[in-house]
Amino acid sequence: MANQRLNQQSTILSGIQPSGNLHIGNYLGAVKQWVDLQAYYHVFIMIADLHAITVPQEPKELRVRTLALANLLLACGIDPEHSTLFLQSHVPAHAELGWIFNTMTPLGELERMTQFKEKSDAKGAYAGLLNYPTLQAADILLYQPNAVPVGDDQLQHLELTRELARRFNNRFGETFVVPKPLIMQSAGRIMGLDDPTKKMSKSAESQSSYIAILDTPDEIRKKIKNAVTDSGKEIEYNPSAKPAIANLIAIMSAFSGSSEQEVAEKHNGKGYAEFKSDLAELIVKKLAPIQETYRKLAENPDATLKILKQGAKNARETANETLNSAKEKMGFVL
Ligand code: AMP
Ligand code: TRP
Repeated sequence: MANQRLNQQSTILSGIQPSGNLHIGNYLGAVKQWVDLQAYYHVFIMIADLHAITVPQEPKELRVRTLALANLLLACGIDPEHSTLFLQSHVPAHAELGWIFNTMTPLGELERMTQFKEKSDAKGAYAGLLNYPTLQAADILLYQPNAVPVGDDQLQHLELTRELARRFNNRFGETFVVPKPLIMQSAGRIMGLDDPTKKMSKSAESQSSYIAILDTPDEIRKKIKNAVTDSGKEIEYNPSAKPAIANLIAIMSAFSGSSEQEVAEKHNGKGYAEFKSDLAELIVKKLAPIQETYRKLAENPDATLKILKQGAKNARETANETLNSAKEKMGFVL
């Protein structure tokens, strides 16, 4: 578990965009934490479809991906009996509070965001991409969560969210909880299998860079077998000297629940090939039940839609309460 401690009454919120294929970086860095946290906290999980359209989307694909992601999250273990799984576009308060935050955020703060710089291309960018972080701040602050479990690429967005909460509270009076990021120490950044200097990403050029949750056992075995390694032959956890092996150890550690050191010790004296084969079999074994549940869920889209509708109803209650309190403090006539 991440090093921060949370108290029993905590609320957790996180979000994920319905873009592309969920990979083991998303799973280990984010989704698995959400699933584990459900035992102790109220967890809100939001599919960020309004964020997805900050880059152009094909309508048919957006719909298919959104429902597929909902099924994947359910298959990974998000339990709608205990947690609130919903679509961002089903809760209008997000766009409304995002607008309010736009009026409180200097342009320079948004232009400096790494994601904005990376995603704007030579032709420029749309205003929605610039305003991505203020919408994300609204997503989070509406639910008054104590912590936001994400991968470490989201730290900059969370820092802005915390700043907006403090800014609003200072100007209009105590309204928002200032949430903490919650990042798994090693799984917070799973690196690409073909290049341990770049994070595992679904937008990678080569598909062998990541393992998708829905990859077949043979695809998984092949990708792990072809993963780059470091010089030498010892299995040791040393991220600066042996980044590729350290990444494979981190993956095994996160899937098995053993520490990186335990994984390294257990494979002490075995070669890279044997270690890789053990890792591939572990991933195949851990993903199999998720894949099976996913297939069953995909056969009944109406049931998934019903879960999302109920989730949105619950989410709207909390979100509207926070939004109204913020609007009242700002002088809006309610
Ligand atoms: P994304 O796929 O970029 O929408 O990310 C969804 C969630 O997965 C976010 O919490 C990310 O921080 C997390 N995530 C994405 N890529 C990785 C990675 N390579 N390692 C760990 N976490 C990741
Ligand atoms: N920006 C996040 C990502 O790309 C997705 C996201 C949107 C999110 N709103 C959120 C994550 C609120 C945490 C909390 O991964």
